[in-house]
This record gives sequence, structure tokens and C-alpha cells, in this order.
Amino acid sequence: PKILILVSGEGSNLQALIEASRERDYPADIVAVGSNQAKAPALAKAAHANIPTFVIEHGRYGSRDEFDGALMQEIRRHNPDLIVLAGFMRILTEGFVRALRGQLLNIHPSLLPKYTGLNTHQRALNAGDKLHGVSVHFVTEELDGGPIVAQAQIAVGADDSAETLAQKVQAQEHVLYPIVVRWCCEGRVQLGAEQVLFDGQAL
Ligand code: GRF
Repeated sequence: PKILILVSGEGSNLQALIEASRERDYPADIVAVGSNQAKAPALAKAAHANIPTFVIEHGRYGSRDEFDGALMQEIRRHNPDLIVLAGFMRILTEGFVRALRGQLLNIHPSLLPKYTGLNTHQRALNAGDKLHGVSVHFVTEELDGGPIVAQAQIAVGADDSAETLAQKVQAQEHVLYPIVVRWCCEGRVQLGAEQVLFDGQAL
């Protein structure tokens, strides 16, 4: 299966997916990497791996609909089976998300449904949480609210800061995302009518 990865920043998750895709039996073929930020370091990582890249700068579009229209056009050109958001920092319109139902995955640095949006590590600390982590979910109209496929937890220590939590969570992201992308590409994980299906079954 063909996957297209959307990024805005560093691209450490992209790098983890690139490395996974080099494994002989890895099912996903990364056909393109797209960014809304021309300067995203992730683009250099893609280019270094000889993966085609494209940039759709949101500032050049008058509305979210126009931006999403341009993004959709570029996505259609590559005809991916799965679109993987890896640190893509734009909220997508309802129409866009609906058109790609079941084909859009996102990774979010919290144990959803806790802490949608930004500053998740500080918010977990402020709440005194003993557990924190990362979630991979299908994207639906609700921001960070789509059905969860998998989560990885980390323990929050007394001396953790937002920075140390971010590092620990990212290390988990780099393991978890390639696994979930593999499952999706193998058809083992799918978005059913209301929930995630594992080997065709709701858990
Ligand atoms: C990750 O923490 C991810 O959970 C969030 O954005 C960050 C992306 O990091 N959605 P990177 O660009 O993959 O290094």
C-alpha cells in the first residue's frame, strides 16, 4: 500500500517511518511527504531518503477550504491508500476529513481523550497525572477526537518536566506509529461504521 505523510516540523516520526519502511517485510511504500511549512526540517529528511516532497503554504490561501482543496489535489495526484499525519499542525476542514474517512491517521502526545490540542505534557504535569503517553487515532471531524487505534503509556516521575516527558513520549511515538501504520497497511486495522476494527472485529 501507498502512504503519504503530512508534516509541519522536525519530522522525527517521519524518520521513524522511513526507517521502518526500509525493513524488507514492511508493507508501506512512502510515496510522498507534504508540508504546510516550506522550512520544515522534515522535508530535508524526506529528500535525503529520496522521497518526493511538496509544500502547500497555508499563508497563500484565503481560507481553510482553499488550502484543503489544494492539499486534496496534491494528495489525489499521489493516490495514497493511507495518509499519515506526523506533526502536521493544521486543522483540516470537515469536508476534507469526511472525504478521507478511514484513510487518515494522526499521532497525538497524550492519552486521549485527555489533553486534546497543545501543551499536553505541561497539562499532564499540572494535573498530577502518574501516567502519560501517546495515542494514534483515526482523524474525524472532531479535533483529536477520532477513534483511538493504540496508545503507549509512560510513567510520570517526581522529577519529570515538560521537556523530559516530551522526550519520553516521543521515544514511544517512534515505536508505536510504525506498528500502527503496518497494521493499517496489512488491513488488520480499519475504521468501521462507528469504531476501529481489529481483524474485522470491534474490541
Ligand atoms: C509529535 O509529538 C506528535 O505527537 C505531535 O507532533 C509532534 C511531531 O514531532 N502531533 P515530529 O515532527 O515527528 O518530530
